[in-house]
Amino acid sequence: MQQSAKTKIGDADDAKVKVSLGERSYDVIIGGGLLPRAGALIAPILRKKRVAIITDETVAKLHLETLQHSLSDQEIEFTTVILPVGEKTKSLHHFGDLLDQLLAAQISRDECLIAFGGGVVGDLTGFAAATLRRGVDFIQIPTTLLSQVDSSVGGKTGINSSHGKNLIGAFYQPKLVLADVTLLDTLPRRDVLAGYAEVVKYALLGDFNFFEWLEENGLSVVDGDIAARIRAVETSVTAKARIVAEDEKEQGVRALLNLGHTFGHALEAETKYGPHLVHGEGVAVGMLMAMELSAKSGLMDGQDCVRVAAHYDRVGMMQSLPIIEGVKWLPATLLKHMHQDKKVDQGKLTFILMKAIGEAFVTQDVEQQDILTMLDQFTE
Ligand code: GLY
Repeated sequence: MQQSAKTKIGDADDAKVKVSLGERSYDVIIGGGLLPRAGALIAPILRKKRVAIITDETVAKLHLETLQHSLSDQEIEFTTVILPVGEKTKSLHHFGDLLDQLLAAQISRDECLIAFGGGVVGDLTGFAAATLRRGVDFIQIPTTLLSQVDSSVGGKTGINSSHGKNLIGAFYQPKLVLADVTLLDTLPRRDVLAGYAEVVKYALLGDFNFFEWLEENGLSVVDGDIAARIRAVETSVTAKARIVAEDEKEQGVRALLNLGHTFGHALEAETKYGPHLVHGEGVAVGMLMAMELSAKSGLMDGQDCVRVAAHYDRVGMMQSLPIIEGVKWLPATLLKHMHQDKKVDQGKLTFILMKAIGEAFVTQDVEQQDILTMLDQFTE
């Protein structure tokens, strides 16, 4: 069973969720105003008082100094690597470059990397930590809602290849995750909404009560209410921690976390992972597609789809495929992208479908014609 606890750390009430993985267990601390306290929170788990911060240009401008000061306050030495912003940074080229910079800075095996940014920085840094000198410790300080509720927890690390997203990587767990919801105040609303899609995911896949709570409080989460944000991140991370503890390497139940992702990745691939459709938007539309397919297959009451769409509408989430110059949404092409997904097993696609809000399940038993009919409805 996962532990989720309120602890008084510094001046604020922080939530703490434990990811239970034996020797590799770690805490996710969620709170407001954690960054100025990061040095003090990190210090107890460091083997040596020297770290490498890996961040991107946007986060560096907004928050790097605060992190650096908090480390200096604890006499923790640091070196900093600043990467370009965007999904293209998750490449073999940037991966090699990052490792070279870390080796040039003489980061040794008992030193620690800090991934300070969104999913791109977290995935790339985690993979660098997994491979540098055959493995060094790393800490996640996620700065986007999406990375706070999903990508910083659970140890999926990696980079993209020309063959598809996240096709090169490793399962490698961090030593600590610090999710400071105050950092979300500097995020554009579009990115908050993209991250919020992953919050809704946890409700849809396994927690009807959480969905009801989001119906009441989702707008406060999006609008920036600190207590609502802490509660949403804590509930999401608790759900993820429980699933990861049960199935770290995605042999079974962890696949539920991919609700909306098989469709979402296909949408992202069609838009070449460009700026017109970000990951969380693909997931948002992908989840509606999964629900529509569930309803069409007679598995789920169509009224549940209507209820979820009404929630999307209320908070302002993406519900339909955007019009993008040069992109023609075609069911057959989307299906082709889906077959490129790394979860394809001997040509069989894996789908996460739903019986009701809060009841998702994994299946390969879906008729191709039903998928095409559903896609037709979204692309016409
Ligand atoms: N983002 C899905 C997972 O961590 O398994």
